Amino acid sequence: MSALELAVTVRAMRGSDVAAVVTLADRLVGAGYYDADAVSDMLSRSTVGSVVCSHVAVRSGEIVGFRFSLPPGRWQHGRGRGLSPELWPIELDACGYFQTAYVDPVVQRQGVGRAMATAALGNLQRLGARGVVTHCWKESPNNSSFRYLSRLGFEPVREFADYWVDVDYDCVRDGRPCHCTAIEMFLALTGSTGSQEAES
Ligand SMILES: CC(C)(COP(=O)(O)OP(=O)(O)OC[C@H]1O[C@@H](n2cnc3c(N)ncnc32)[C@H](O)[C@@H]1OP(=O)(O)O)[C@@H](O)C(=O)NCCC(=O)NCCS
Repeated sequence: MSALELAVTVRAMRGSDVAAVVTLADRLVGAGYYDADAVSDMLSRSTVGSVVCSHVAVRSGEIVGFRFSLPPGRWQHGRGRGLSPELWPIELDACGYFQTAYVDPVVQRQGVGRAMATAALGNLQRLGARGVVTHCWKESPNNSSFRYLSRLGFEPVREFADYWVDVDYDCVRDGRPCHCTAIEMFLALTGSTGSQEAES
């Protein structure tokens, strides 16, 4: 567990977090994007033995952020439409996937997102990932998604218009359907990038 400013801590996600993650996702991502089954599925797929690649941020007992990350072999595509493995330097089976990350605006820009990502990257690497793929939300407020991923070293590969248009949820920006754009981004993992001890 790592201490952050304002007593926000980052730890591995647990089964007991599912309901709170759904509530936060409904508010920040949009109603219906993640139900309890979807969160449980993400948590299950992100866990290999004692190594958990998905994380939550907690302040005063309340979950204020989450990140889902999937190890190699536990994913084939993202939530939306479009994937360009032919443009990556490393084959899909050796890549992890950064699925979704949100931090409550009241604690954004305090290192919470970076702490969850760093913990995830270390564990993905421990599980054999040599690269990580993600789909950045191009229209995120203040361009925070692209900035955040770029600061982590991700590089843009390709853009997909209407990436989430088939997802049955109420986008916080567009309602239904979502017309947001995804920027597929890739991070090569080398050396001791983001090495972290496993959390439970
Ligand atoms: C993207 C997000 C998860 C980052 O979490 P965070 O805790 O705010 O980020 P951190 O404090 O760890 O900062 C990491 C970098 O993100 C960027 N960033 C974070 N918040 C930002 C904001 N409000 N405006 C501009 N850039 C921002 C900055 O580049 C920052 O690095 P820097 O301060 O060294 O320049 C969070 O801002 C968020 O939930 N945004 C809306 C949802 C979203 O876009 N999610 C998709 C992420 S792939």
